[in-house]
Amino acid sequence: MKGVILAGGLGKRLWPLTKITNKHLLPVYDKPMVYYPLECLVSAGIRDVLLVTGGNNAGDFLRLLGNGKEFGLKELHYAYQEGESGIADALRLAEDFADRDKIVVVLGDNIIEKDIRQGVASFFSQPRGGRVYLKEVPDPERFGVAVFDADRIVRIEEKPAQPASHYAVIGIYMYDEQVFEFIRSLQPSARGELEITDVNNFYLEQGTLEYEILDGWWTDAGTFESLLRATNLVASGGANHTTRRPSGVLAAS
Ligand code: DAU
Repeated sequence: MKGVILAGGLGKRLWPLTKITNKHLLPVYDKPMVYYPLECLVSAGIRDVLLVTGGNNAGDFLRLLGNGKEFGLKELHYAYQEGESGIADALRLAEDFADRDKIVVVLGDNIIEKDIRQGVASFFSQPRGGRVYLKEVPDPERFGVAVFDADRIVRIEEKPAQPASHYAVIGIYMYDEQVFEFIRSLQPSARGELEITDVNNFYLEQGTLEYEILDGWWTDAGTFESLLRATNLVASGGANHTTRRPSGVLAAS
């Protein structure tokens, strides 16, 4: 299984913090934001990772992360997204890297308290399809939201004005090789983006999208409020992440 981190986009909601740097290089407590999705993949046993980024500061990721050796990666690959045409548009660039393998995709601004080891193991033995995590939130209108019939998801709605549930689809997605076919058939949404929610709805229509409820806290960090929340949550010591020591040695926190 391979990992993909999506760290493109212009981070407009964090302007002017993102005027001269990429959102995912901003600090979340004691580490750059991009460390968290990277550590999330590594702690789930994934050693082959592609980072997709864009904008004017793409080169800074190379300076920060190099070949990923310090994180225990076998290899760290890079791809460059022109513009910011959506999460699914950024994921499109991972097709050659994935090479028909299953992939775990993590949005570069998503941070979780615990780990996804169990979910990755379940997806490994899932014959086909996709897998998403849900989390109950007070503000579902900011996210992709699950619509249920009993305990079955029938549809996911992107940022609905009137959410059908309080369950957000978080930014960690697991897909089989069909994902790239699905992306090719997408049309831009009203906000001009190729939506990851439409990809998840393809899997739902096929009846192959599994889900589980994420254990522990989750937050994005793409707005001033959520960036502050992420910083406070990490600082409060909850995150079960590896911590980078000044010596470059990784130690469990
Ligand atoms: O955080 C989870 C939510 O992320 C999901 O619930 C939503 O369904 C999903 O659409 C997404 O919502 P946002 O509107 O918050 O996504 P945002 O535009 O902030 O992008 C999230 C990350 O995706 C961003 O940190 C980097 C990556 N991205 C985004 C865009 C638009 C790219 O790599 N390229 C892009 O063009």
